[in-house]
Amino acid sequence: MSSSSPASRYTAVAIALHWAMAFLLLFMIWLGWNMDDNEVRYQLHKSVGITLLFLTVARIAWRLLNPPPPLPDDMKPYERQLSHFVQIVFYAMMVIIPLAGWLLVSISPFQISTVLFGTVDWPHLPFTSGLRQGNELLHGIVENIHSKGAWVIIVLLGLHVAGAVKHEIGSEDGVLKRMVPGLFGKTSPPSPPARGALVAFGSSIILFAIIAAFPLIGSGGASAPAAPAGAESAQGNWAVDYAQSEIRFTGIYDGKEFSGVFTKWNADVAFYPEDLAASSVAVTVETASASTGTKLYDSTLREGEWFSTAAFPAATVALTDFQSTGPDAYSATATMTLKGKEVSAPLAFTLTMEGDVADLSGSAVFSRKALDLGQVSDAGGSWVSDEITVSVSGKATRIN
Ligand code: HEM
Repeated sequence: MSSSSPASRYTAVAIALHWAMAFLLLFMIWLGWNMDDNEVRYQLHKSVGITLLFLTVARIAWRLLNPPPPLPDDMKPYERQLSHFVQIVFYAMMVIIPLAGWLLVSISPFQISTVLFGTVDWPHLPFTSGLRQGNELLHGIVENIHSKGAWVIIVLLGLHVAGAVKHEIGSEDGVLKRMVPGLFGKTSPPSPPARGALVAFGSSIILFAIIAAFPLIGSGGASAPAAPAGAESAQGNWAVDYAQSEIRFTGIYDGKEFSGVFTKWNADVAFYPEDLAASSVAVTVETASASTGTKLYDSTLREGEWFSTAAFPAATVALTDFQSTGPDAYSATATMTLKGKEVSAPLAFTLTMEGDVADLSGSAVFSRKALDLGQVSDAGGSWVSDEITVSVSGKATRIN
């Protein structure tokens, strides 16, 4: 076969996919070995890995629609077989390794969310939540498939490169030439016309979009009986101004302070400074509305070992035992009910009146351990402090 025949070269798309994916695969192996408990690197590893999975889907579809040029005539039968074997195992590994990685994070007892490139919530594999606890054997197998798979890739890469170099040197129909655009100047034949771009990339993108849509469906469903922020609540004898009020949680994460708010909650306030014994406050918070400003943390907070929002969409806080502690200063007992656990903590707050409008500010400290939050991944509080301060601030108008 002549080297200038159009069919003697890969399509430009196949060439681009080949080199981009080769680079990303090597980068992924390096990254996998160098994640060092670094959250940013883990997320990058998962993001690029999932991207590679879908690039592989597109690449396989592309290859089926645009068969590669035949191997050079001077290759011996065993070389052809070895070349085909290497390619098939390569494709298999490019599917198996990222799938094993996805399974690994899905069944990990540390329920850390995957947010692709800090933007797209990526779900865990379906039907895996029951496999998180007490499955060390399965964890070990999947982890080994994932990590040893990288070594299979390295060995294959060695064979692949050796084969390509061997059949480049002294061969008119050099195999490397078919995959390296412009390397041989004017002697490089043009790429053949391509077909099926829409099918190959469209199917991969649609599959990705369907999977990425799952968390959106889930988050729409989990709803607590809480009023959206900004709504007015006229229960009790106070109307809370939600637009100017907030419930915030603050703790230490990795040595630094982190903080977030619940964006959906409502409060039924019956508070009589002149009759504290008759006072009571009931607050309902939509747990899925926890917002820290970082998508990864918000998604992780919704996981089973944290707020477990699918099973427990709401948390409640009841304030009782009000006492006056000074001018405009009060204390109360805050009893939080979350994930079926009931935990009480003292709340200190100030309330200053201007006409009928009160300005409120107070805080209580809760233990993560007592509330069973993050007790699988960080029971000892080495990453996230056990003490979490819940503070309230805002305005309310007395209505009777
Ligand atoms: C082609 C894609 C991928 C390659 C080549 C790759 C490669 C690797 C390598 C070499 C390691 C280090 C293993 C070791 O400790 O020796 C690793 C670890 C890891 N990978 Fe991947 N990976 C890929 C995709 C993914 C994906 C898609 C995910 C998850 C969505 C993922 C999740 C993980 C996790 C969680 C670890 C840490 C395992 C542990 O520390 O036990 N990987 N990966």
